[in-house]
Amino acid sequence: MNVIQQTILQWKTLLLQYKFALDEMNTKLNILNQEFQQIHHHNPIEHLKSRVKSPESIQKKLYRKGVPITPANVKEHVRDIAGIRITCSFVTDIYQIVEMIQKQDDIEVIEVKDYIQQPKENGYKSLHLVVSIPVFMSQKTEKVVVEIQIRTIAMDFWASLEHKIYYKFNKEIPLSLQNELKEAADMISMLDSKMLAIHTEVEQIKENEKDENQMEEEWMMEWVKDFLKKADKQFS
Ligand code: GTP
Ligand code: MG
Repeated sequence: MNVIQQTILQWKTLLLQYKFALDEMNTKLNILNQEFQQIHHHNPIEHLKSRVKSPESIQKKLYRKGVPITPANVKEHVRDIAGIRITCSFVTDIYQIVEMIQKQDDIEVIEVKDYIQQPKENGYKSLHLVVSIPVFMSQKTEKVVVEIQIRTIAMDFWASLEHKIYYKFNKEIPLSLQNELKEAADMISMLDSKMLAIHTEVEQIKENEKDENQMEEEWMMEWVKDFLKKADKQFS
């Protein structure tokens, strides 16, 4: 094998590891979602998207960082090669997902960036996790870094529009549009709070109904027991 072939193979092997890490993380998240649904009758994950960063974007990022473009430098300097974006209905789902991920023994949480508690100046909100997950291969086990972005559907709507505008204006959004985006971000926070309040109210109503049904059932049982006792006495 010549040097070029060897280099290509090294890059392919590296990118494949990130794909494996995504496969593992996706399986874990699907399991959590299904199990949570069974217990709480609600899916914390509405939508899940994953991608391996393109070789061109990886090269650009290393170049920006002023680091020579080698597979070893990729592992060390780029943490979003494997990326997962999770969208949820409610802000509470986001923190529940983070907690469930943190509890998994084989996942190491390297960094948590909470742009929900501390939104970025432009209004961007999301929760970012950088985790590392072991990938078991035939010859070795590699710890692979995955970036997970978790946000509500409304936050995602905002972020995708902002992203388009950011590139449309070559990363220099005019001030008036910046202000409008900030305003929209505030409205989105209000919407998220309102949706959560409605959801919580409905959950409470369901819980009360369950209690009432249970009380009714208990009362019926008592009545039947009492009736049987009386009938027993009458015929004995
Ligand atoms: P990079 O931006 O990837 O170099 O990483 P970083 O170290 O600055 O990390 P950070 O966690 O702040 O952002 C990672 C990713 O979150 C970005 O690549 C975007 O996908 C997303 N993101 C962060 N800030 C914004 C923002 O202001 N607007 C939008 N639309 N997305 C953002
Ligand atoms: Mg990135």
